[in-house]
Amino acid sequence: MSSPSPLEGDKVPSHILALLARLHAESLQQEASIARADYDANVIHGNMKDKFIALEPEKCHFVYQLARAINAKYIVEAGTSYGVSTIYLALAVAANCRTTGGVGKVIGTEHEGAKAEKARAYWEECGDIVKDVVELREGDLRETLKEGLGTVDLLLLDIWTPMALPTLKLVQPKLRPGAVVITDNTIGSAAGYQELLEYMQAPGSGFTNLTLPYNKGLEMSVYSPN
Ligand SMILES: C[S@@+](CC[C@H](N)C(=O)[O-])C[C@H]1O[C@@H](n2cnc3c(N)ncnc32)[C@H](O)[C@@H]1O
Repeated sequence: MSSPSPLEGDKVPSHILALLARLHAESLQQEASIARADYDANVIHGNMKDKFIALEPEKCHFVYQLARAINAKYIVEAGTSYGVSTIYLALAVAANCRTTGGVGKVIGTEHEGAKAEKARAYWEECGDIVKDVVELREGDLRETLKEGLGTVDLLLLDIWTPMALPTLKLVQPKLRPGAVVITDNTIGSAAGYQELLEYMQAPGSGFTNLTLPYNKGLEMSVYSPN
């Protein structure tokens, strides 16, 4: 028998669980009709303008559980889309602050204005527990993440592959020792992630890396600089 989700264990309000179930279902339904060619780096921006491409539920549950385990209170997410994974991150940060005190934050990033607006509406629907934790930086993350970051416990890279390494390089100076970087689809999109993976796997990079056997792969990297 499998365990209930960690969100249920943490008594997340039922209206949030229902919203997440609805948004995941919508995202998975959309994805079923997206062709592989639509993910090509030359067309992906246009073709995914109105698509969720949300992190799958089981990966979201893992990231939530991980954020709880490392007591993450400052998380950066690239990118946010309609804000599904952001909800999990915000709930984990809120739970960590409840347990061990302090104030937490999730920095979301999204360059599609219509997606950002919808994401804000979903967070509003969740209520203060989510809304109060999230700071959405609207625009190209290569600009919006340049300044004003605190010490980062967790970085979620759920972004078009060419953006992954530039994002990591922007955020890396703010990663605390022991910070975790999660990168989605590192098996399914291995070619696109080649530069990022070579960078993180290089001797002396400061990262240790493990590919988790989720659908299309999920890379978990721990930052331990010398
Ligand atoms: C895979 S989706 C994120 C899904 C989200 N994490 C979730 O689980 O709901 C990637 C998002 O990154 C956004 N994006 C791509 N390049 C970006 C950039 N340079 N700056 C900000 N956002 C970007 C896209 O518009 C897209 O919505």
